[in-house]
This record gives sequence, structure tokens and C-alpha cells, in this order.
Amino acid sequence: MTALPEQATPKTAVSSLPPSPLEPWDRIGRRLGVRLLVKRDDLLPFPLAGNKVRKLVRELSARRVRAGDVLITTGGVDSNHCRTAALLGARLGLDVELVLHTRAGIEVSETLPVRLARALGAAVHLVDPTDVGARIDERRTVRATAGNTVHVIPGGCHTRAGVAAYADAAAELLDQLGSAPDVLVLASGTGATQAGLVAGLHRAGCRTRVVGISVARPACRGGAAVREALSWVDGGAEIPVEFLDEFIDGGYGVASDATRDTVRLAWRLGLPLDPTYTGKAFRGLTELADSGAFPPHATVVFWHTGGLMNQLVE
Ligand SMILES: Cc1ncc(COP(=O)(O)O)c(C=O)c1O
Repeated sequence: MTALPEQATPKTAVSSLPPSPLEPWDRIGRRLGVRLLVKRDDLLPFPLAGNKVRKLVRELSARRVRAGDVLITTGGVDSNHCRTAALLGARLGLDVELVLHTRAGIEVSETLPVRLARALGAAVHLVDPTDVGARIDERRTVRATAGNTVHVIPGGCHTRAGVAAYADAAAELLDQLGSAPDVLVLASGTGATQAGLVAGLHRAGCRTRVVGISVARPACRGGAAVREALSWVDGGAEIPVEFLDEFIDGGYGVASDATRDTVRLAWRLGLPLDPTYTGKAFRGLTELADSGAFPPHATVVFWHTGGLMNQLVE
């Protein structure tokens, strides 16, 4: 369990995360010829937070945030990380400022994610992607000059603490499963979640094949990002990384018909996926299984990282 610091708790019930459920999905597994389990980080007890909540709880704990501190972070207008920062910030009594980058020609000020962030009390700054750094610096200076303690957290919580949170999540999986899975598949973006899982499994002596399915980046860039994040962990630089870019469709936020079909079918079977993250990853898992990439009856874990909001804004 990841604890938040004592100082942060007076105004809040946030003090730890329970394990997320690990569910057998035999109907889909049988069809794919594997033993399929789904690790439901989408069901962690923070609505619509997914993998971001593990990273942020650890990050805020490491920083020993206190009620009244200012938290500044950034992401796209649909950013799961930013909305989760607003949610945790509200629970912890932090003053949250979100610098959200917009996309040309899209009216974003009243979208559901932005409205939710505002409802959680966050100040939302909508900026052009090229102005993100300058606006963060400006807000940091304004708030620090006013006497606040300011925490600037990188987009996606792409930090050492974020990686450490997922190394611990791997240990949580091993506790639940009782043995190492043969394969673990997940949606990979900045790569911190993948790096943490790889590090945690390696630390436990497992030979699990961890397959990161890129949601946007080409393999060279995305794989390098995972390797860099892995190098933040002791001995991590030596561990091989598998990062596939065959399922990115047209890039971030673009989903092919095949990905949409996967999402539609999974919902029909009771597994909520989204077209931006988990739909691509699950399509990767099914296509790899169909192509014989996994040994027969292999134990395959699909790590569900969330993304329901990305489905809701479709
Ligand atoms: C739902 C969801 N899944 C997966 C990811 C990818 O996580 P990471 O950036 O740690 O690779 C993200 C990141 O934005 C996400 O929001």
C-alpha cells in the first residue's frame, strides 16, 4: 500500500490505495487460447483516474505535500493525469492549477474533462502547446512570490516516484496471482507505467514478457522513453524492453476501425475499454495471441490502465 504523508491527511480520507482487482476473463481467454486475467486499475477507488492515481499518490507522498500547497501540472485537454491531479488535490486541500494544451480549431473550454477539473476546484489555463513551459513558469513565479509552497509535477507524472509506484504494483500482482504471469500487456504512453512494471517483475526474479503497446509514439522514441525511465531504477538500464508501435493507428487519439471493433466487442462482453489507450492495447493482445505469439495456455495479464473518460468524450 502506498501511504500519503501524515501532514497531508487532516482534510482528507486519502491515505492509501487498496489493491486493484485481478479478474479472470475465461470467455475471452478461451477464445484466444490463453489463461487471461485483467488487472483492473480502472477500478481503483478514484473515479476515472486509472493508472494516474498510483503515480500521483506516490509522487505527492514523496513530496510531503501539505494542505494549502499549490500543485501545478500539465497535459492535453482530455488528460487523465490532470483530472486525477485535480481530484487528489481537492481531497488533500491543495490549490491545483492545470496548464492544458489545446488543439487547433477545437473549442475545449466547456468539454467534460475541463468542466470536471473546474468542478474539482482546479484553475484551468488553456494554452497553445508552444506556450506550456512559459505559462508554468509564470504561474510558479506568481504563486511562489505570493508565499505559497509550489509543486510542479511533469505531465503524465512521468517521474521516479511514478515508476516506483508501478514497481510496487507489480509486487501487488504477484501477491494476487501467486506466481509470475508468462505475459503482461499494457497501453504505453510516456512509458513510466511500463518501466515500473518491468522493474518490479525483474526485481522479483520473474521472467514475464512485458509487452508495451504504444498509444502514439513510434517504437524507437517510445522504447527509448521506457528505457530511460527504467534507468531511474537500480539495475534497470540492463533490462530489455518490448515496445510495439503496430497498433497506434493514426497516432494519439486516432483509432482505426479495427481498434473500434475491439472496443465495441469488449464492451459487449462487459469489459469497458476506450479507443485512445486500452482499446489499442487490447487489440494488440488479441492480435498477438491470434498470431501465435504466446505459448498455448500461457497466463496472460492485461493491465487495464483506465481511459473511461476517453470513451465518454468520443
Ligand atoms: C488510460 C491510460 N492508459 C495508459 C496510459 C499510459 O501511461 P504511461 O504514460 O505511464 O505510459 C495513460 C497515460 O496518459 C492513460 O491515461
